[in-house]
Amino acid sequence: MTLLRRVRDGYLRTYGEMPEGVAFVPGRVNLIGEHVDYNDGLVLPMPISAGTAVAWGRGDAPGVEAVALDLDEERDSFGPGDATPHQPVDWRSYLRGTAAAMAGQGLHASGARLAIAGSIPRGSGLSSSASVCVAIARALAEAGGVQASAETLALAAQSAEHNWAGVRCGIMDQMAVAAGEPGCALLLDCADMSHRNLPLPDDWAVMIVQSGVRRGLVDGHYNRRREDCEAAAKALGLSSLRHADAEAIARANLDPVVTRRAAHVVEEISRVAQAASAIEQRDLTRLGDLMRASHASLRDQFEVSEAHVDRLVDLLGHAIGSEGGARMTGGGFGGAVVAVMPSSQTNRVRARIEEDYAPPSGAPLEIMIEQTGRVLAGECE
Ligand code: GLA
Repeated sequence: MTLLRRVRDGYLRTYGEMPEGVAFVPGRVNLIGEHVDYNDGLVLPMPISAGTAVAWGRGDAPGVEAVALDLDEERDSFGPGDATPHQPVDWRSYLRGTAAAMAGQGLHASGARLAIAGSIPRGSGLSSSASVCVAIARALAEAGGVQASAETLALAAQSAEHNWAGVRCGIMDQMAVAAGEPGCALLLDCADMSHRNLPLPDDWAVMIVQSGVRRGLVDGHYNRRREDCEAAAKALGLSSLRHADAEAIARANLDPVVTRRAAHVVEEISRVAQAASAIEQRDLTRLGDLMRASHASLRDQFEVSEAHVDRLVDLLGHAIGSEGGARMTGGGFGGAVVAVMPSSQTNRVRARIEEDYAPPSGAPLEIMIEQTGRVLAGECE
């Protein structure tokens, strides 16, 4: 059954009538630009076909009612303005946090009824939580009859992560899913949220392979990396590492760990600018080199990779050869690997990975291939 059908049926089952609308928001895969969004850097994510659907309607009771169709149809409800934090952090934290942030922007979704379902594997680094939050924000805006910009939705979703889930994430995921166009990479400048959709050539393919190692950002590693970066910027007398350069970092005599973190950020931001040019020039070899360098830096300098992910990246790299490349994607510590290659090579590469890679603890091997160039060049912007 399709996701839209599932969410409409679930709404009908729960509330006894058909929804008035459905908000769909994709997940994202990040092609390059990792752990730089919270340093005011450049990033290059793309929306994927898996996502979250929120069916919405309006009931008589004030406040918000919701059902999580994928989680044993758990329910939640709260009155206008009186959502309270939920412990431990779960889907209710995202729902309540997003609704509170939207209310903070003047949007009190009174009488909203929601049914939520998704198709993004959780804990895979493909932004299931950003997708859920932005989809809830969009559904609440639609139910409230207001137009909300991509930036408004993204900021509400980020506020839920920061203040209700305890993850001090950047703005990449929320903007990628709110403003990204299918078949395009979103070149986003996190310093001022300016962005441009870059169509990917339609003879390229984006392949996503799950390592089978589940990751979570709430365990503190993520926030610690952010603190290291903030410490580096502060020691350099800068507002963020976006304004740092390699020589200043080398000269500053910082703690060796902090030096490595900062070096990654500065180099990765420069790689994103080069990757955007490589896409515009249809240079897959150059993009592959940049992806390989990005992975090596995340593994050795930022230290957010993991043994199974490294092995999968190596296997993909060998199978692809020089035209294209692979790297970890998302926050790290497990999750998915992204690869870009000529679309003519996907069957061969998929067969090699199916033969050579077994996810740990018997998890099934999951490979997704995202279409590129669905939108004609020039139509993205
Ligand atoms: C997670 C966060 C993002 C970003 C990435 C790493 O996905 O939510 O804001 O920092 O990790 O690039």
